[in-house]
Amino acid sequence: MKILVTGGTGYIGSHTVVELQNKGYEVIIVDDLSNSSIDVLDNITKITGKKPLFEQFDLTDREKTEAFFKKNNDLKGVIHFAASKAVGESVEFPLKYYRNNLLSLINILQAMNDTGISNIVFSSSCTVYGQPDNLPVKEDAPIQKAWSPYGNTKQISEEIINDISNVSGICSILLRYFNPIGAHESAVIGELPLGVPNSLMPYITQTAIGKRQFLRVWGNDYDTPDGTAIRDYLHVTDLARAHVTAVERMLNGRMKQKVEVFNLGTGNGFSVMQVIESFERTTGVKLNYKIMERRPGDIEKVWADTTFANQELGWKAEKGLDEMTASAWEWEKAIAGRRI
Ligand code: UD1
Repeated sequence: MKILVTGGTGYIGSHTVVELQNKGYEVIIVDDLSNSSIDVLDNITKITGKKPLFEQFDLTDREKTEAFFKKNNDLKGVIHFAASKAVGESVEFPLKYYRNNLLSLINILQAMNDTGISNIVFSSSCTVYGQPDNLPVKEDAPIQKAWSPYGNTKQISEEIINDISNVSGICSILLRYFNPIGAHESAVIGELPLGVPNSLMPYITQTAIGKRQFLRVWGNDYDTPDGTAIRDYLHVTDLARAHVTAVERMLNGRMKQKVEVFNLGTGNGFSVMQVIESFERTTGVKLNYKIMERRPGDIEKVWADTTFANQELGWKAEKGLDEMTASAWEWEKAIAGRRI
């Protein structure tokens, strides 16, 4: 059972490769290493005892993508993570985002169609909901106009997949991630932001270890109990497991529609202050932070209705916020002491 994982040396990708290998799947990774390190392959191998197959190329290259699929026409499915994901950068360099995120998807779908490979799991995001009118947000909530080119590529990608599924044998599970944080319990793989992190958890751990002076808390005047913004954080290992469940659903012929959409979160919202409190409680480390103005483009609050994922997909997030923050800290300490 061979599965292609694009972006498999990245943060969510590497955790998913581990879970797939642990379930006995043979994994082949394609990654251009633009935002990850080749050493992740060895680190995956340390955890699972099996080195994944690996090819380094850019999936926006149509010829290389076609040649890869021709050579690997025994693939049973594709999990497509490889994409650019920095919201701020996408505003500054929109064409980079449209080119990278859309051309790679188009090339993959074309090659799947040409080689008769029919199953794809796609990394989407809760960003498609914008600020929902009703919380928790369900999968059938209206899609709102994307605020950033990054968010727009996720919306357009979902549309492209829907359109090709209407006229081909391709089946797809679109997974809308809420906010994945934390690291593998071994602290051998985790999130490796290049440069200054934008997202909350790596900024917290880098501040705590002394790489950053203080965390800037973006706004405390939101309409939430403590005034800071609320998100649905989920452990990256839980998120990785959901991909295995999705692949099994496809391979076992359990899909009820050619395109299915699932929210992946815990169903619980936590504020920025609650994440900081959890971090301080689980690690015993006091965090320096300052309250700042709101960050442009941030929404106030969002958390998932996970009923459909729980009941229909048969997946449930198991780890709580304290496990997430504690594992993120173990990872930060581990990488402080070694080369990745
Ligand atoms: C953002 C994107 C989301 C994307 C994800 C990918 C927006 C609106 N959303 O999620 O579409 O899928 O990144 O990585 O851009 N925070 C601080 N200080 C910091 C960093 C974050 O207070 O230094 C706060 C933010 O204001 C937010 C929360 O922490 O309330 C989570 O932020 P972050 O981790 O950046 O994720 P999102 O903004 O939810």
